[in-house]
Order: sequence, then structure tokens, then C-alpha cells
Amino acid sequence: MTSHHAGSADELAIGERKLLNLDGTKVLLFHLDSGFHAVQASCPHLMLPLKNGKLMDGGKTLQCPIHRAQFDIATGGVNKWANFPPGIQMLNVIRKEKCLQTYTVTVADNELNIEI
Ligand code: FES
Repeated sequence: MTSHHAGSADELAIGERKLLNLDGTKVLLFHLDSGFHAVQASCPHLMLPLKNGKLMDGGKTLQCPIHRAQFDIATGGVNKWANFPPGIQMLNVIRKEKCLQTYTVTVADNELNIEI
């Protein structure tokens, strides 16, 4: 694993997010009430962008804006797999549930680092 600088902690207010490209790995960084969380920037269902995903459950869950799969933002676990529009579940035979990759975020002297 390699540590990548991800900016200053005070640049990202609680509730905000930013898309980062860390040596070719696209990462979504969130600042939530529970702290900083980093996850892969594409949905593991069809690898489409998650950057406009909806935060739910007080920031514990990230919902994909495309087919509404829901992930635990801290663990990457699947809370609900792709379920919209009706019929999308037929794809699940070949696109089985897959967790969201999460990355460790550390804060030291107001600077953020993400382990990739
Ligand atoms: S691309 Fe995210 S649920 Fe389909």
C-alpha cells in the first residue's frame, strides 16, 4: 500500500465530498459526521460514477445514482443491490453483489492521507 496526500482536512466541510485521482485510482472522499471516508469512485455494479450518489441514513449509506445499489460507506458492504428500474434484477445473474472498495483515511496535522 502507498500513502497519498489528499489535501487539507479543513478544505472539506462536513457533508462535502470530492473526487480524487490518486496515481490513476479514482477515489471519492467524504467528510461526514463520523469522520473522513474514502471509497472507490465507480459503482461495482456496472462501474458507473458514484460521485453524485445520494447519502442516506445520516451519511451511513451511499446510494448509486444509476440503479440505486446502496453501500455502507464505512465498510463498503452492500446494503441493497441494484434495484431500479424494475427488471434490472435480471442482470444480477451476471452482475452479482460486490462490495465497494474502501480506503483508510488518516489525518495528521490537518493533512489527509489515503492508503491505496
Ligand atoms: S451502476 Fe450502480 S447500481 Fe448499477
